[in-house]
Amino acid sequence: MDRNRTDTISVPRGLAGVVVADTSISEVRGDAGTFHYRGTDAVALARSSSFEQVWQLLVDGRLPDVGDGEEFAQQIAGVRASARLRTVADAVRAVSPGALAAVAATWSLLSDGAQDAALYDLAPQRRRDAAIAAAAVVPAAIALHCRRNPAYRRGVVADHLQAVTGREPDEWQQRALTAYLVLAMDHGFNASTFTARVIASTGASMTACLTGALGALAGPRHGGAPSRSLDALDSVDEAADMESWIHAELASGRRLMGFGHAVYRTRDPRAQLLKQLACERGGRRVDLAVAYEQAADRVLGEVKPGRALHANVELYAAVVMELCGIPRELMTATFAMARAVGWSAHVLEQAADPKIIRPASRYVGPEAA
Ligand code: ACO
Repeated sequence: MDRNRTDTISVPRGLAGVVVADTSISEVRGDAGTFHYRGTDAVALARSSSFEQVWQLLVDGRLPDVGDGEEFAQQIAGVRASARLRTVADAVRAVSPGALAAVAATWSLLSDGAQDAALYDLAPQRRRDAAIAAAAVVPAAIALHCRRNPAYRRGVVADHLQAVTGREPDEWQQRALTAYLVLAMDHGFNASTFTARVIASTGASMTACLTGALGALAGPRHGGAPSRSLDALDSVDEAADMESWIHAELASGRRLMGFGHAVYRTRDPRAQLLKQLACERGGRRVDLAVAYEQAADRVLGEVKPGRALHANVELYAAVVMELCGIPRELMTATFAMARAVGWSAHVLEQAADPKIIRPASRYVGPEAA
């Protein structure tokens, strides 16, 4: 308890289960293993909608009509065609950062009027346009990081695949990556979304909110997990015995990347759809991932009984991205391209409430002299 105040309450470690805001953007039902975007099942959207359609659903609150779609596409194309973006990307590339740093630096250096303005200084329409422009920077910055033209031609997903692989994507790759990116757009009050909302509550700019959220996403317990899941797959591939390798990992105190979830108490529905898509493609790597998942399920059930630790979105997202030809270095940035949409929608929602998010801490250090 904060000894100088009498009006504080203590909450569980990690704020687990604490409701800190109202939202109409997405809801995760951890016990049922489902989640939805503004009332529509997210897995159904991932199967049938384009990236751009779900982007508009999250930001504008409804799936677009045909005319809205064209206007939206023009907005994205305008961001990508910006001469300033290319100048900034050239400067960023000159110091050769990793993909995530390139995205963060591009946001920070762009200095676009609305994206950089304090949220509370913008009228709602300009805030909404800033949200779209800021999220549209991510795929463009990744394309420029890969030294490819970021022009908007065939849609975010096909353009991204072309930019990062240098090849024409096939039908499965476009469908599988679309499904992943739609599933990755938003997911309740995860750590990076909460970060974006805390920054938004101070009235800082759209860019500041998204850059901060990107920092939170990068951690291995959050969006930094996909490439590490593949490192684990490489290791089990070389190991003499899969279950012994998993036991050794757990005995050494390490976590299995791509397993466990803060909210799901049953299977992660994102993992299930992505597994299905990976199995549709098939191949040795997919067989290995399925065998690893089954072995990990058995061992985790034994070592951590009663915990419901199953594959989360990251395991099969990594497999799907690998099958799409996306290099490990770009996996978290690819995740960020989708989640930036969710962050920007949450920033808009938070900006409508002028209350700053400012919790308290319990002081446990030495007594004041
Ligand atoms: N491997 C082994 N043990 C695990 C794992 C795991 N992947 N996840 C949780 N546990 C264990 C913990 O060691 C702990 O055991 P203990 O009580 O015996 O010490 C117990 O389960 C609870 O752990 P918490 O950290 O309290 O679980 P929480 O639900 O808060 O964590 C998280 C969720 C961070 C995702 C965790 O499961 C994890 O670290 N997973 C691996 C990283 C990962 O895959 N991250 C991607 C998540 S999805 C996303 O962010 C998009």
